[in-house]
Amino acid sequence: MTELEQQLQTIRAEAEAAIAACADLQSLTLLKAKYLGRQGAVTDVLGKLGTLSKEDKPRIGKLANEVKNALAAAVTARQETLEAKAAVSGPAIDITLPGRRHHLGHLHPLTQIFERTVDIFRRMGFALEDGPEVEDEWHCFDALNTPADHPARDIQDTLYVDLPTDPQYGRYVMRTHTSPVQIRTMLKRKPPIRIVAPGRVFRRDNPDATHSPTFHQIEGLYVDKNVTVADLKGTVDFFFKQLLSPDTQVRFRPHFFPYTEPSFEIDLSTPHFRARGKEWIEIAGCGMVDPNVFKAVGYADDEYTGWAFGFGIERLAMVMWSINDIRLFTENDVRFLEQF
Ligand code: DAH
Repeated sequence: MTELEQQLQTIRAEAEAAIAACADLQSLTLLKAKYLGRQGAVTDVLGKLGTLSKEDKPRIGKLANEVKNALAAAVTARQETLEAKAAVSGPAIDITLPGRRHHLGHLHPLTQIFERTVDIFRRMGFALEDGPEVEDEWHCFDALNTPADHPARDIQDTLYVDLPTDPQYGRYVMRTHTSPVQIRTMLKRKPPIRIVAPGRVFRRDNPDATHSPTFHQIEGLYVDKNVTVADLKGTVDFFFKQLLSPDTQVRFRPHFFPYTEPSFEIDLSTPHFRARGKEWIEIAGCGMVDPNVFKAVGYADDEYTGWAFGFGIERLAMVMWSINDIRLFTENDVRFLEQF
């Protein structure tokens, strides 16, 4: 055996023992460099092959390569073992301890009202519906029996979107109410229909404590055969008692909306509101779907009747939680949101 062969045997034995005993990934990296790195022991031997005789060279070259491969394999195996151990024992953190600096987030107060509302109506067999915030005049007004000269369509009240006018549906608008969801739902389905549609609406308004150019509503629609005002009153009464408290009183006052006939405004009174100095708060509009609305969506207006309502969420949230500025809902100040 030549001197080089002996040297290779020694390197191998020594390196294998060191790798097997190695206890952490950092020292393993150092060992790898010591034997297999550019200036490592095995690399050194390989560099000397050129000086060997023709008979010795193939034999020792082969051995040197074997040693190199064996050590590389030993390093990889050890690395896997060490990594697996680290994964099992993990970092020194007790993940069952409560967090110190991070607290759980909160649902936005309006989201909370949306979720509770949908939940209550779902129990009565209502489905959740949705519609676009950028609407067109036909869905937002015409199909809802609201003529072109109606003040709601005035440039003073409605935000018109700078898009080319649609030849069939007219100009584009930011929806001023969630009522166009009624139209979209009736166009795609046949009665019976029972839906609620929470969403954001937009009106031209200068923001102050009680006015905002954007706020939220929940729309409801029920269409079937023989639906009456009694169904409307019973449903609305049940809903608000569930949402607020069983001692909530609900009052209907005659009103006018183009898309309902008869139409009402709904007022609420609860001990909670009264304690805050509000006897009745006006919360919603509603009524029996106007036959012209059924005509617009192609329903037989002598076959079906229905009711609809729309109520504003911010106003309700403001009395529920004694919030005195409507702008707080859109500012997303965590000091406000955190309180719910
Ligand atoms: N769209 C009305 C508003 O924005 C609310 C409303 C009134 C909705 C009567 C309805 C309804 O569905 O039947 O003030």
